[in-house]
This record gives sequence, C-alpha cells and structure tokens, in this order.
Amino acid sequence: MIDFIDIVYGLAWGDEGKGKISNALAKDYNYVCRWNGGPNAGHTVYVNGTKFKTHIIPSGIFAGKPSIIGPGCVINIEKFFEEIRGLRAAGFDTSLVKISPNAHIITENHIEYDKEHLAHLGTTSQGIAPCYSDKMLRRGRRAIEMMESQWIWDGVLSGSVLCEGAQSVWLDIDHGDYPFVTSSTTMPYGACSLGFSPKKIERLIGVAKIYDTKSGVDPLFPETLWDDPVLDQIIQQGGEFGTTTGRKRLVNWLNLDKLIDAIRISGCTNLIINKCDVLNKIGVFKVIHEGKLVEFPDLTKMNDYIDDVVFEQESDVEDIIYSGSPEGLEFNYTK
Ligand code: IMP
Ligand code: MG
Repeated sequence: MIDFIDIVYGLAWGDEGKGKISNALAKDYNYVCRWNGGPNAGHTVYVNGTKFKTHIIPSGIFAGKPSIIGPGCVINIEKFFEEIRGLRAAGFDTSLVKISPNAHIITENHIEYDKEHLAHLGTTSQGIAPCYSDKMLRRGRRAIEMMESQWIWDGVLSGSVLCEGAQSVWLDIDHGDYPFVTSSTTMPYGACSLGFSPKKIERLIGVAKIYDTKSGVDPLFPETLWDDPVLDQIIQQGGEFGTTTGRKRLVNWLNLDKLIDAIRISGCTNLIINKCDVLNKIGVFKVIHEGKLVEFPDLTKMNDYIDDVVFEQESDVEDIIYSGSPEGLEFNYTK
C-alpha cells in the first residue's frame, strides 16, 4: 500500500541540481524511482564529501533504499553495468537497483543514428530519441528480454515513494522548446507511468537555479551569450559544463517569466532555487522579468523580489528554499 508520493523535478532546462535535492531527501522514503530518460541524464551528488556521478541509477542507492528504474526509462546495458560496478566498488548495495521489465534498451544502432542525424539538435548522442522512436513504433527491445531476472522489478511500491525526474520542464517532449527537447515526459505527471494513482502525490518539489543554463542548441540561448564576460564568470564559477557531454553550457540570467510558466503548468508546490552562492561570489544580481532585465544590489533583495513575483501568482507554491552549498542540504518535508 502506497502512503504518499513526492516528486523532485526540474523547472528549467536541466542541470538545476536535482541530484543534490533527491539525494538529501532519499533517506526519508521507502523507495526512490526514476520515471524518464536514460544515460542522457547526469546527477552529481556528494556523499560524505565524496563526489559521485550517476546517469541512470536513482539516488536512493546512496541512502540504501530500493532504487527503481521505471517503464518510461531507456537503458544502455553496458553503461548500466559500468555504473553498478562503480557503485559496488564504493560500497553501495547495488542489489537494491531494479529495472521495470518494460523499460526499453538502447542499441548501438540508436547511438549511431543519434550521432549521425541529430547532432544539429545538440543531443547528448546517447541514442535517446532513436530508442524512444523504436518504442513508439513497437519494435523496440525491452529489459525483460535483455536482462537477467535478478535486475527485474516486480512492480511493487509501498510506503513513501520519492520520484526523481531527469531533464526538466522545458526539455519535455510536449511542453518544451520543440524540437530542442528530449524525447520523454519530464513533467512530474510522467511519474505516474511508474504505476500509481495521481491522487497519491503529495509534494511536487520543483528545482530551479538562480540563473538559467542550456546544454546544447536552443534559439532561446543564442551563442552570443558566450560573449558576455559576467555570464562567462558564472560558467566558470558555477562549473557549467555538461556532466554527460563535458560541453560548456549557455548561461543567461534567470527568466522569471519562464519560471512562472513552468511552475504553473507543472503544479509545483515546493520551490527550490539552487546555486545562489555562485551569484554571491560574482556579486552581480539580475533577473529577466516581463521581458526586461531587473538588477539588484544584493542576493537578499533579489530573493525578496522572486518571492513576491512567485507568491503573487495564482499557483500552488507553499514555500521557497534558496540553496547555496554544492555539498548537500539538510532538510526534509516529511517530518
Ligand atoms: P537528448 O536527450 O540526448 O536527445 O538531448 C536533447 C536535448 O536535451 C539536448 O539539448 C540535451 O542537451 C538536453 N538534455 C538531455 N538530457 C539532459 C540533462 O540531463 N541535462 C541537461 N540537458 C539535457
Ligand atoms: Mg543533470
């Protein structure tokens, strides 16, 4: 019997620091689940001061919780086992990781097609879109055919469940900046594909960043942004290089208009804004609001302004957390 579901998901273009948040929360739940994407994702988490990078394995693994890869995910078997070996060597109990029998498998052909035909969209070259295409064409290979039974999930969830999103609202196949999107449902309603009633959802924990970034091509992020020396300082200070691709990300000031839209269409109840320390180090504080740049003397004034704008909207947001330190965050919603 499921008591309740909380969902952590991204409100921007990915790379908001979702991994840090779900890792901080995981210990309070019975299950941690991924519902979308595959090795295109990159989660960076710190566990007792050591940095770990995962791509497909849910962060429940770091908290010793059953970690489920849902039917809406896509798996690169080789990369999956690479990750398993790394985690096992670091002392984590990898027998907790289970994969839905219905998850689809990425093949060499998918990766080749991605590299050859989709580079102009700035994809991660992991074979994501071709794999989801074959799934929709109903000719894909699934985990049940390709993986040993010890890895296959029995479909059971119980108690409290944390779902962690990969990619984010503006990369969603239906709501994002198509075609500069990924091929899955990044919106939190996609979590229901794991097999539970939407009525069980309690918190929709939306993660944003105090500035915007895009990894890969997008007309909303013209390459001229790279010419701005202050934005370049943010790239360096914030380490804005892709976890999966190593590419330098395009950076812009936080677009509050987009953030408000993302909050509204996804139903965010708890907003977390990450990486505030980066702006503090640079000492320049700006947002884009109603299409115009607004500048502030310090972070507190900027946060007050964001609070006012967000709470003024007719949204479900109950609280806003501003977060700095990259190494983790001690908080929970469940107590
Ligand atoms: P794909 O998911 O590899 O097809 O890439 C499609 C778009 O989504 C590209 O712009 C990628 O840079 C972006 N993308 C995919 N996964 C992530 C992620 O985990 N973080 C940030 N951007 C991502
Ligand atoms: Mg990421």
